[in-house]
Amino acid sequence: MTSSALPKLTITRPDDWHLHLRDGDAMTTVLPHTAAQFARAIVMPNLKPPVTTTEQAAAYRQRILAALPDGMLFEPLMTLYLTDNTPPDEIRRAKDSGFVHAVKLYPAGATTNSDAGVTDLRKCYKTLEVMQEVGMPFLVHGEVTNPEIDLFDREAVFIETVMQPLRADMPELRVVFEHITTSEAAAYVAEATGPIAATITAHHLLYNRNEIFKGGIRPHYYCLPVLKRETHRLALVKAATSGNPRFFLGTDSAPHAKGVKEHACGCAGCYTALHAMELYAQAFDQVGALDKLEGFASFYGPDFYRLPRNTSTLTMKREAWTLPAELSYLDGSLVPLNGGEVMQWKAV
Ligand code: DOR
Ligand code: ZN
Repeated sequence: MTSSALPKLTITRPDDWHLHLRDGDAMTTVLPHTAAQFARAIVMPNLKPPVTTTEQAAAYRQRILAALPDGMLFEPLMTLYLTDNTPPDEIRRAKDSGFVHAVKLYPAGATTNSDAGVTDLRKCYKTLEVMQEVGMPFLVHGEVTNPEIDLFDREAVFIETVMQPLRADMPELRVVFEHITTSEAAAYVAEATGPIAATITAHHLLYNRNEIFKGGIRPHYYCLPVLKRETHRLALVKAATSGNPRFFLGTDSAPHAKGVKEHACGCAGCYTALHAMELYAQAFDQVGALDKLEGFASFYGPDFYRLPRNTSTLTMKREAWTLPAELSYLDGSLVPLNGGEVMQWKAV
């Protein structure tokens, strides 16, 4: 039997290396979806206000653990939000904590809750030098924010104008190029020397930018970095299914209430936590690469973060089922990506 005909797939339990859990009641709704599939997740710090200190990360971590339903096992891996003023000492505190696993770069203005982000990376060099010294991973939202740069070119321009100079100055800094969306980023990460990896979302593996405009504007397909053209999607699929340990899973599942997605100025983010592994299985299955899913989803992430691989498993069945169109969320609803559609795989 070829792997693409397998009715069932059991893999080492995966982790999500890029996740938005939000806080409060929103978190209470979305957290069980992630915990049902993943053992751990790197939790993004772009709350309002952002998580900029180890002390805030400790409190956020406790809120996550308190919101976890009884009997569910899940370990939140915390991150700090880098600002122009993050002191170098904060990195040492984060490292010593044992629960802060990375620091995130949001270029100011690049995306949701990035206003407090970095205006010029050179302002952060003393702090980045300590990250390099202590081996703290630097998670990079890799888009320039210059409004004159075409939206679809912002990742490629970032590589040349920010990523390459940064990594030339700090060759030992452990960098994760988050949610890559272009062939340029996939090639850069595959070919670069030194400690660099990239996360890839399920939606960037499954869709190109046509999806946002099919039959009218479809805001649930709008995220940042935005979906790109088909050639880029194909390059991402090739990278994800290549078995190269520099590429691993990060959903970037980012819940926003239906009302702020379906809006004249809608928020960026796709909600995929509910059916994340089903989407990845579909993307790998489509190209006959289910045998490469376990490395991507369960091995290469912990290896890069220098954490143990999980020992439990996750089983998925090839089975058609219909994803709910909407979930109850805050005082309204949350529309998952593919809401109401038939899925081909089901996590059991
Ligand atoms: O689409 C996105 N949504 N991209 C991001 O970088 C942030 C995220 C969010 O927090 O909603
Ligand atoms: Zn994100």
